[in-house]
Amino acid sequence: MIRVSVADPSSAGVTIRFVPETGSTNDDMKQLVAEGAAEGLWLRAGRQTAGRGRMGRAWESESGNLHASTLVRLRPGDPSAPTLACVAAVAVHAALDAFVGSGGLRIKWPNDIMAGHAKLSGMLMERVGDAIIIGIGVNILNAPPLPDRMTISLRDLGAAGCDAAAVLEAIARHFTALLDQWRTYGTEPIFRAWRERAHPAGTVLGVQLPDGNRSEGRFETLDRDGALILRLADGTSHAIHAGDVFLL
Ligand code: BTN
Repeated sequence: MIRVSVADPSSAGVTIRFVPETGSTNDDMKQLVAEGAAEGLWLRAGRQTAGRGRMGRAWESESGNLHASTLVRLRPGDPSAPTLACVAAVAVHAALDAFVGSGGLRIKWPNDIMAGHAKLSGMLMERVGDAIIIGIGVNILNAPPLPDRMTISLRDLGAAGCDAAAVLEAIARHFTALLDQWRTYGTEPIFRAWRERAHPAGTVLGVQLPDGNRSEGRFETLDRDGALILRLADGTSHAIHAGDVFLL
């Protein structure tokens, strides 16, 4: 059995750029992609004035928190691109869990990092041609409120002495190692690591779908593209490819 290793990530090939302020690091990374940026590049901003979240929402980006983006250049034979959401989730979870040290953080589909019912980190993936841009926000010193869920910061969790630069370094090292494993061994070991760190099978989840409908069911598994498989009350299984998931 192949298991993904997140204990000894390599830092080979990682470049981290810093800007004190920008609109959105995802938008800047789109520009860098167009200019031919290579995989391994990360961009961190001290604060964002037009940070974006999933489903068209704004992402409040105060200084003291982590706002960063990277890119993956898709290659022939790579696993399906949406499964990179799981790669990113495992990388961020591994990094943050080490800072918190409690083992108490959980991934919520597809790649929110939660402490109980409170959100600690969120990610925004966007595609530009053959490149996938992965934007990561982590509440380090502040937990800006969200309209529909509780939020929490690393500071609230007692993770003393960590700052955005150190957190990003850890995330980038984990991500680099996991990306390599994704390419070499495929999605199964990544999914296994994701499941070990996520809400357990059987957890009751509510899903706000992009078309405005709401669904509710028990978490069953992930499909081969990383979609969420929900078991509904009538016994049928549904694949959710996009939406907001809530722990009920
Ligand atoms: C979400 O949970 O809604 C996703 C939040 C993603 C926020 C990050 S911060 C860095 C990058 N730049 C952005 O504008 N958004 C992402």
